[in-house]
Amino acid sequence: MSAPPASPFAVETRGITKAFPGVVANSQVDLAVRAGEIHALVGENGAGKTTLMNILYGLVHPDSGEILIDGTAARIAGPRDAIAHGIGMVHQHFMLIPVFTVGENVMLGREPVAAPGFYDHARARQEIETLTRQYGLALDPDARMGDLPVGLQQRAEIVKVLYRGAKILILDEPTGVLTPQESTELFGVLRDLVKTGKTIIFISHKLREVLEISDRITVMRRGKVVGHLVTKDTTEQEIATLMVGREVLLRVDKKPAAPGAVAFRVENLTASSDRGVPALRGVSFDLHHGEILGIAGVEGNGQSELVEVLAGTRHATGGRVLLEDRDVTTFDARTERDAGIAFIPEDRRGTGLVLSYSVADNLILGRQRSQAFSWRELVLRLAAVRTWARRLVKEFDIRTPNIDTAARNLSGGNQQKIIVAREMASRPRVLLAAQPTRGVDIGAIEFIHRKLIAERDEGTAVLLVSAELDEIRSLSDRIAVIYEGRIVSIEPGDAPEERLGLLMTGGGVETRTGAA
Ligand SMILES: Nc1ncnc2c1ncn2[C@@H]1O[C@H](COP(=O)(O)OP(=O)(O)OP(=O)(O)O)[C@@H](O)[C@H]1O
Ligand SMILES: [Mg+2]
Repeated sequence: MSAPPASPFAVETRGITKAFPGVVANSQVDLAVRAGEIHALVGENGAGKTTLMNILYGLVHPDSGEILIDGTAARIAGPRDAIAHGIGMVHQHFMLIPVFTVGENVMLGREPVAAPGFYDHARARQEIETLTRQYGLALDPDARMGDLPVGLQQRAEIVKVLYRGAKILILDEPTGVLTPQESTELFGVLRDLVKTGKTIIFISHKLREVLEISDRITVMRRGKVVGHLVTKDTTEQEIATLMVGREVLLRVDKKPAAPGAVAFRVENLTASSDRGVPALRGVSFDLHHGEILGIAGVEGNGQSELVEVLAGTRHATGGRVLLEDRDVTTFDARTERDAGIAFIPEDRRGTGLVLSYSVADNLILGRQRSQAFSWRELVLRLAAVRTWARRLVKEFDIRTPNIDTAARNLSGGNQQKIIVAREMASRPRVLLAAQPTRGVDIGAIEFIHRKLIAERDEGTAVLLVSAELDEIRSLSDRIAVIYEGRIVSIEPGDAPEERLGLLMTGGGVETRTGAA
């Protein structure tokens, strides 16, 4: 699979340096990507990966250093220059317009025009069809973007980049939002792309994927390049150690749970999705203090709606939720929080953070009115807030110049760490954790996993939703499998992967062990 060693460099950075207030995001970064290879860029949260890619794409201007395309120095003052040099970028947070069709999104800014003022639909559709056929990227040009699953939205982003003539594709954490199935499909697409001569730069925190898909790897740590590796000659452990600067435990150590009384009783819960179709069709289970109950399921089977209803951010259409015998079904998010329910939402940029607020303010978000931070609910106890924020930044290793920095200026993974820190540190009775490690680096995953176990051991009832079956299996004491809005079985924490896989796709229920 690896590119011949003699293939020339499609893109190089030499001595790229970029400082932001309080942090050197890139320091003398040398990156050399061979034509026709898949080059992985890895490193801790805040290591400088996105910054380097934004520089290549012309979104950020370096303080010094140069960029070479096909061996020649290139001036990239903005995305227009980058596109002209054949560089395309698929951002971590998609930039598509949900109410437009796939075709309209792909053409955006480059519409073929039949007559002045008219957009040539027929020609646009034809060009997209040619592209999708050429690269095996099945996609309906007339589908409305907002109706597509995230995997297909990403595919549309890729088609858009190809339509603009990209030879070098940058994918910043493309699998962060994908289901395992979608990731496999994406890898097929990437392999086809390099076969046709494209060059790919691929960022991921999932080292298994990096080993599977890449030819070579560049490792960054705190703004610097700390290693160049050839994929076939390295291991997950070696990459992790280079990234983090110490040995990383790649598995979870935990004692058996000692579950206590029922914390949460969910009875016959029903709810609708954003599109108004039934998403939960009668979900029942008990969640005990001192246990981690994992929800396993193929994405889109109701797990998102379930945590939202439990967290009070979505209305139930029927059924009941009892928190220690108190009916909390109709509580709103604030009341739920005051009742001791903490919530790590999957959508960090939507519900979890206010990007324009400081790190400190985000660390007390939703708890501004609690006694620890306010005086008669009016005056924030500033000193208390600052002490609290500094403590969490340190404990959760949130990489930020200081606690007054706006959350928007933090790297993606460090934004996620703010939410995790805030919710876990609130000493909740029930912790609802949806994709708690999405986008965080391997050292932070290890830390968050240990914290979840520690919370459990202190008696917190933890509900864990994750797209990563491995994560569910290594943390959960019991596993509830959700399929088409129903819990089809509750399995022991050590249930075999094959059995869970079968249940998740609607099979195997006749031998169910019985839902609690
Ligand atoms: N616009 C900005 N203003 C201020 N600081 C910034 C800005 N963009 C990035 N930074 C800082 O630069 C550093 C590198 O961030 P970057 O987003 O490149 O990290 P990353 O390697 O992509 O991390 P992650 O894996 O979490 O996405 C971080 O300390 C971040 O806070
Ligand atoms: Mg990033």
